[in-house]
Amino acid sequence: MSDNDTLTLRRPDDWHVHLRDGDMLRAVLPYTARQFARAIVMPNLASPVTTASEAGEYRRRILDALPDDELCRGFLPLMTCYLTDNTDADELERGFVDGVFTAAKLYPANATTNSAAGVTDIANLDAALERMAGIGMPLLMHGEVTDPSVDVFDRETQFIKLVLDPMLGRFPGLKAVLEHITTMQAVSYVRSKQGALGATITAHHLMINRNALFEGGLRPHNYCLPIAKRESHRLALREAATSGEPWFFLGTDSAPHEIAAKEADCGCAGIFTAPAALELYAQVFDEEGAMDKLESFASVNGPTFYGLEVNEATVTLVRDAWDGPVESVGVKCFAPSGGLDWRIK
Ligand code: DOR
Ligand code: ZN
Repeated sequence: MSDNDTLTLRRPDDWHVHLRDGDMLRAVLPYTARQFARAIVMPNLASPVTTASEAGEYRRRILDALPDDELCRGFLPLMTCYLTDNTDADELERGFVDGVFTAAKLYPANATTNSAAGVTDIANLDAALERMAGIGMPLLMHGEVTDPSVDVFDRETQFIKLVLDPMLGRFPGLKAVLEHITTMQAVSYVRSKQGALGATITAHHLMINRNALFEGGLRPHNYCLPIAKRESHRLALREAATSGEPWFFLGTDSAPHEIAAKEADCGCAGIFTAPAALELYAQVFDEEGAMDKLESFASVNGPTFYGLEVNEATVTLVRDAWDGPVESVGVKCFAPSGGLDWRIK
């Protein structure tokens, strides 16, 4: 159902989220579980999730932390394996076949939060990638090179050129997702693959450009990785997300850090969007005159790419202006300065 002021869509899923662990997990999980039926859970805990048994235990901690209300009870965390130089292809396959792992995540070593144990050279993953291609296990990528001589704003485009393109050439059957894309080059590259490669797009990269990091002073809460790029890239991302094309889908990359860890000499990368995630996307789609495309981006393209059923339940958004969330659980929430026009009913 849809008119200018209401939109009912299939319940969405979040194809990229950081739920953390312990107290932070208990604090942030309800936001994601209330809005989304399923979520791909990132494995970059302080001690990374590298085995099926660790992922199974982490999944149990997530399920145990779910609030006991009707919306949250059915939330399904989809677990991922953190790839390292020593990932064992048999372990990956076991975890995937047993239904513990939905996908595996590539963090180039030292690219971002808790990535020190990540992959130092993509060649170290040859056996794992070959196996994943054979069994249809998706590879999710933090797509940035880490060479300190490469400008921080060019790290995604260099990753596509130097790592991703050669890798897809070597493993043509591999199902891969370039996570949280931030550039027009990523948009065109994903399009050029016509379905072999998916991409998630965050709400914040649809809303801010790199000026937001320096608006009247340093703005640590707008710092994330990959870092926001210039305006022309933001516009390309908005065009891609609202295009309805099946390879673009919702992934918030909601990444909570305590305020003190952001407002620090060396502030952490991450933007916390979970409290109003769907409302943020709705704002963008409405501004682009594309509310009719929100359901495919948020609720259909992701499951179709992963080979999963779409959700049968629905959610209704209503036009209702509010300021957006400010701070919750000791974490600053991302919200546009003009507030939000949509609410979940
Ligand atoms: O901004 C980010 N925060 N980017 C990432 O890749 C990781 C994430 C986090 O875990 O905080
Ligand atoms: Zn992330």
